[in-house]
Amino acid sequence: MIGVAMVGTGGISPRHLQAYLTFSARAEIRALVDIVPERAHEKAKTLNISAPVYDAYQRILDDPSIQLVSIATPPSTHAEIAMAALAAGKHVLVEKPMASSLAECDQMIQGAKEAGRVLSVVAQNRFRTPMMKLKRILDSGVIGRVVHVAVESYWWRGPQYYDLWWRGTWESEGGGVTLNHAVHHIDALQWMMGSPASLTAEMGNVGHENAEVEDVSVAILRFQQGAMGQLTSSVVHHGQEQKLLFQGERAAVGFPWQIQAERSQPNGFPVANRGLVEEIQALYDSYPALTYEHHLGQIDDVLTAIEHQRVPLIDGQSGRRTLEIITAIYESATLGKRVMLPLGPDSTFYQKDDLLRQVPRFHTKSRSVDAFSVNEITT
Ligand SMILES: NC(=O)c1ccc[n+]([C@@H]2O[C@H](COP(=O)([O-])OP(=O)(O)OC[C@H]3O[C@@H](n4cnc5c(N)ncnc54)[C@H](O)[C@@H]3O)[C@@H](O)[C@H]2O)c1
Repeated sequence: MIGVAMVGTGGISPRHLQAYLTFSARAEIRALVDIVPERAHEKAKTLNISAPVYDAYQRILDDPSIQLVSIATPPSTHAEIAMAALAAGKHVLVEKPMASSLAECDQMIQGAKEAGRVLSVVAQNRFRTPMMKLKRILDSGVIGRVVHVAVESYWWRGPQYYDLWWRGTWESEGGGVTLNHAVHHIDALQWMMGSPASLTAEMGNVGHENAEVEDVSVAILRFQQGAMGQLTSSVVHHGQEQKLLFQGERAAVGFPWQIQAERSQPNGFPVANRGLVEEIQALYDSYPALTYEHHLGQIDDVLTAIEHQRVPLIDGQSGRRTLEIITAIYESATLGKRVMLPLGPDSTFYQKDDLLRQVPRFHTKSRSVDAFSVNEITT
């Protein structure tokens, strides 16, 4: 039985807690921690959890009955809490974004390595049947060499969204839509395509006056193998359509699931390749559906990693690769230049202070609330 402490019991925490309750034969929630303990008490009551409540994560570090710490606190606190938990010999599942800088990611990866513990970063969208199947289709090579990828990470959030105290500043949120929303699609992108070799980006804040951070960014990517890519991150898109579309030499496939295939006529003009579409669809249909999806799927994976001493699907390196692309977008958009990857300690934006010193403040954050009276969230 794996003893779990939940640190941060706000909006997203029920997804973690419900997953641990679902896997009650494998995990038990043994502590709830929040600097506002009333929130932890409220979650305990609503979800019928009988675990002690603490107001500081330090209180659980010496508790030998806790082996896994689930962190769902604001992004600027992830690295400190994760590092302390790993140093105390706990496994860690940390919400996205992994941390506020690549330097912090590297420290967390090092901490997990030294402690010999599992470190996983939440990217629950990988645990969706169509996403897993898309990855398998790409890995199969059936669409040929990928020549272009389009990522549309379109979300819509009203102006009040950034009133929450930790959102909307570079210091505590760490960034805007690219970091906190598009992170899901950037994770899927690097999982399926690998990291780009270079990128160029622009960003702005076109509709959220109570935020320093960007509410839209547009990046152009170039991959080592020659493929090009475009990635838009936005919280100003009504309809919130979200898409990844991979153009291969033989066919295009995407999420939400879609296939198109053309072949050439003698004059180069296209004609539909129905046979190939049917072949790819049959392959897609032959893959099994996931038993557990979203946070449930990822927490199943993390528990399995601990039980079998294996690496989780989304480990620290994977979380870092996603933050590396985001950091490169911030660097490029801030400095107005193309950025080459990978980014290491000599990069201009490696430390959080480097980023804070250089990024533009689009607006001054002037309104702040401790919590919303209704904190239902969609993911
Ligand atoms: N995976 C997803 O789809 C998804 C969706 C929403 C939020 N998130 C992420 O989850 C994290 C939390 O977001 P949220 O929407 O639940 O925020 P929230 O503000 O609703 O909850 C955060 C909670 O953490 C507590 N807290 C703050 N600092 C703390 C500390 N040092 N120790 C203990 N508790 C502390 C706060 O009091 C609050 O109750 C963020 O990193 C966010 O990006 C992920």
